[in-house]
Amino acid sequence: MIDYEPTTGVIHLHNQLISYVLQIEPNGVLIHRYWGPNLRHWRLDALNQPERTGQTPVLADADIALGSICAEWPGGGQGDYRYPAFQMRQHNGSPLASLRFKALQIREGKPVLEGLPQFFVVSDDEAETLVLTLTDTTTAVEVTLYYTIYRAFASIIRRVEVRNLGAVPVRLDEIMSASIDLRPQAFDVIQLNGDWAREANVEREPVHTGTKVLRSNRGMSSAQQNPFFALVTPETTEQSGEVFGFALVYSGNFICRIEKDPNALVRAQIGIDSENFSWHLDPGAQFETPEAVLTYSEAGLNGMSQIFHQIIGQRLIPTRYQHMERPILVNNWEATTFNFDRERLLKIAKAGQAVGAELFVLDDGWFGHRDDDTSSLGDWVEYPGKLQGGLVGLSKTIHRWGMKFGLWFEPEMISQNSQLYRTHPDWRLCDPSYTPAVGRHQYLLDLTMPAVRDYLFERISAVIDLVGIDYIKWDMNRPMTDVFSCHLPADQQGEVAHRYVLGLYALISRLTARYPQVLFEGCASGGGRFDMGMLAYMPQIWTSDNTDAIARLRIQYGTSLIYPQSTMGAHVSAAPNEQVGRMTTIETRQNVATSGVLGYELDLTELTTADVDAVKARVKQYKQLRQLLQYGRMIRLRSPFETNEASWVIVDETQTQAVVFFTRVLAQANQLVMPLKLAGLDARADYRVEGRICGGDELMSVGLTLTPPRHQDFWSKMLVLERVSSD
Ligand code: GLA
Repeated sequence: MIDYEPTTGVIHLHNQLISYVLQIEPNGVLIHRYWGPNLRHWRLDALNQPERTGQTPVLADADIALGSICAEWPGGGQGDYRYPAFQMRQHNGSPLASLRFKALQIREGKPVLEGLPQFFVVSDDEAETLVLTLTDTTTAVEVTLYYTIYRAFASIIRRVEVRNLGAVPVRLDEIMSASIDLRPQAFDVIQLNGDWAREANVEREPVHTGTKVLRSNRGMSSAQQNPFFALVTPETTEQSGEVFGFALVYSGNFICRIEKDPNALVRAQIGIDSENFSWHLDPGAQFETPEAVLTYSEAGLNGMSQIFHQIIGQRLIPTRYQHMERPILVNNWEATTFNFDRERLLKIAKAGQAVGAELFVLDDGWFGHRDDDTSSLGDWVEYPGKLQGGLVGLSKTIHRWGMKFGLWFEPEMISQNSQLYRTHPDWRLCDPSYTPAVGRHQYLLDLTMPAVRDYLFERISAVIDLVGIDYIKWDMNRPMTDVFSCHLPADQQGEVAHRYVLGLYALISRLTARYPQVLFEGCASGGGRFDMGMLAYMPQIWTSDNTDAIARLRIQYGTSLIYPQSTMGAHVSAAPNEQVGRMTTIETRQNVATSGVLGYELDLTELTTADVDAVKARVKQYKQLRQLLQYGRMIRLRSPFETNEASWVIVDETQTQAVVFFTRVLAQANQLVMPLKLAGLDARADYRVEGRICGGDELMSVGLTLTPPRHQDFWSKMLVLERVSSD
């Protein structure tokens, strides 16, 4: 999968789907050559450089103008005026670095990355890793670039390690996980942006000359911007065209930079955001970037999504969860918020049991003295007297009913009104000479501190051990401010945001290793930290606090650009909906939630008998189709961002079964009905659809005609297709 030709310096990473080519020039400068569909060889060797003028600085010891090449790992200061991938400040203040090739290794498998989430290999023969070391001509700082290519996926996993082998410290000011210069070509950039309760908006625009920056400096990957972007050719659609996808395996501050220079080269970068970032590297110390995953598809955005879905599902999410059927849960939050007692909870849980739900989750409000969101975060001890019989009693009853039991935690936070704050006021992240900004009445704990992490580990473990819980909802409800740790020296304050994330990963990996039987679900006021970093520990994430089915069409559609449906928590809630007041039928709500990990977040005892019957029927059907629904191949068919409809299909591996979801948003008089062309079926097979037999070819080339009733907004349909024969 990786060929190196020492005479030409060409390194060719390839599998049957893609090729990625770099070249070491005779002077040791690293050039990017190609990334795209698989090539048999790379033999083109001319270094295409535009005409040089007096305005073109040239490396004095080599005949290269860095500013006009496709660079593989650009540093600043020697004639490349685009954004660098790497910037350091030397002990004497110099910002220069001139990185040249030192050594390379081609390794079987994928070396382990300490302390950060990562893609893994199941066996060493499924991937190869290029380990390419560059060294600075002056400082003895070494940069090692890692590239892993799997046999089976159209993607390259990249990361970088910096080592200071010199005798004096240096400071890292900028370090990307991946940087690549694509050849001149017209591109659009696609991003996922949003905010609380409206995550994952798909936005597309042409890449113009200049720099486009997408980022989060909130200390979390954020609802405002997902750590992802795609460069696509202007004609690319959901089903066809070239797509270069980039995503970061990280949950903190990040930047995506797309820079088109006057020669139409496009530099694409992804990594930790450099605002308020600097890393002190003592002699002998090293720094590791998070991983970035680069995917290439010629099959449009759906093609890109399927590569992301496969690699996330098969090589990122912990193996024990990979084919695990995720339980159908009932969560009390929207039904009760903080106002519950044992009786109320048990009523909801019992109604859940009656419809076939498998897990009851007690959300916020069970600990400290928490009756609203102003207190108690940090005090992970049961609220005395709130539940008659206590949490242990509740858990026992739920378990006796044959259901699992789960609890909500928000471990990273501290309320000022808490026992923890009174005991450890210095455990809060803040500069004590300023009044820190407050969010939802709470502050972040300083997770850079081992003592804080130990405390949380012990408290959470004690609750798991005592109560016997099967599931944890791990929430995080405010962004980071006042980025200062009282426990780090002045020259390390630029490390706080990243050290926080490292601390978070250390805590979560300790807990998930100790409690492998507990299912963890991530959450950050909904999808505020929906990223691959969290998914490396927790296989599912609460997609949004917005549970309105119609708002969810867009949120889930956008989220599915990267993340498989098995990662998306999706709950049926009450009508009118709490966030937007909209009335939708139980059928529409269930169809939208069925396309993710189905749950119920409402007081089931308040449903009409007809709705209860609909819920029972759906739960039964979901269980029958669960493998397909959670792990099948999802293909988007119609975009709610572009049309009055939303549709996608989920097909199993053998193309034997498929489930089509279709929702029309607003009713229209005299509406134009566009046939819905399906995808992913076997063209030669026949399928039974609502009692009729249709060819896979007909369903994909002609399409289904769905005619929603004229007078009904928010009409939705779920259709199950079963294969009947093939010739
Ligand atoms: C956040 C979560 C919700 C709920 C509340 C509880 O907003 O996203 O699902 O758990 O916190 O306070």
